[in-house]
Amino acid sequence: MHSPSSQSEISNRKVDHLTMAGESQTHSQLRDERFFYEPLLSAHPTKINKSFSFGLWNFDFPLWVSSMTGGADHARTINSRLAAAAEEFSLGMGLGSLRPLLDNRQARADFDVKHLMPSRPLFGNLGIAQLEELLEQQEKQKILDLIGELKLDGLIIHVNPLQEWFQPQGDRFKHPPLETIERFLENTTLPVIVKEVGHGMGPRSLEALMRLKLLAIEFGAFGGTNFSLLETKRGSSANGFVYVGHTASEMVGFVRDIQKTHPHLPTKHFIISGGIKDVLTGFSLTQKLPQSLMGMANSVLEPARSGERELSNYLKDLKEQYALAEAFLQVTGV
Ligand SMILES: Cc1cc2nc3c(=O)[nH]c(=O)nc-3n(C[C@H](O)[C@H](O)[C@H](O)COP(=O)(O)O)c2cc1C
Repeated sequence: MHSPSSQSEISNRKVDHLTMAGESQTHSQLRDERFFYEPLLSAHPTKINKSFSFGLWNFDFPLWVSSMTGGADHARTINSRLAAAAEEFSLGMGLGSLRPLLDNRQARADFDVKHLMPSRPLFGNLGIAQLEELLEQQEKQKILDLIGELKLDGLIIHVNPLQEWFQPQGDRFKHPPLETIERFLENTTLPVIVKEVGHGMGPRSLEALMRLKLLAIEFGAFGGTNFSLLETKRGSSANGFVYVGHTASEMVGFVRDIQKTHPHLPTKHFIISGGIKDVLTGFSLTQKLPQSLMGMANSVLEPARSGERELSNYLKDLKEQYALAEAFLQVTGV
């Protein structure tokens, strides 16, 4: 709560105004054209008014912590902090790839965080290459056992052909990922989300996924963390494939067009992720796609590495900004 200003505070502020006005010039070209600004229609917000449904869960702040870690140094601490914050702020979260646990459970503790977010969705994560291999070997049950053991609420499948191609000793897919996903979904009731890891996907792939009975599609769009770039930095030669893909904003447009043309497709939830570094971007895109959440990976990683308090303050700030946007901004073109 703000307390009323004292006389000396008011006079200091007035002095600041005189000295700093010259340094505080904007330019009309800097205007953020994504919004109408409506200053007259709301009081200052105390909370976000809209509630967002995502499968069995309600979100009063539409944020998903995108898949990151497990089986690495500090992974247990980071995942524990993220999970506790997900419970505190009513978020959802994807774990990093469960691959390290497929053949031994040494790193189990890194992923065993569901008890810290009992009321919130926590999803496991596996690459399409591992899924393809497990299906070939008739070992689908291995995944289901792992999900059950960690009490996870579902599985995220990441589809990453470019990352695998450029990764030294990366995997090669023998089948189109769509076929592997369809095979996995046969006779499965587990909630499943499919995502990319930093390139997003074009309209034909999106439409093909929207025809499946998935809980959601996560964009993993171009414009933020990019794993092909990361792999080229780790050793393989840099090349133009790093810059191929689709931004989150472009993908929102694809989904809206597909929904217009095919209004009865089963998949209706989307996690808009990949380059969502600020609330205004997340707000503008989630408003354009009902039943969607914004997803962040790298932006929440930094405060999560710093500490519990830093993470909590960071998320509190994001949530307040979202409420402020909801009160005074209207997204243009919606
Ligand atoms: C440190 C780190 C580890 C990641 N590990 C995974 C992973 O195991 N599985 C996955 O699907 N995506 C992984 N991602 C990709 C993110 O889930 C997300 O799609 C991508 O980082 C884009 O979001 P951003 O721009 O907000 O970082 C990882 C991202 C980061 C930053």
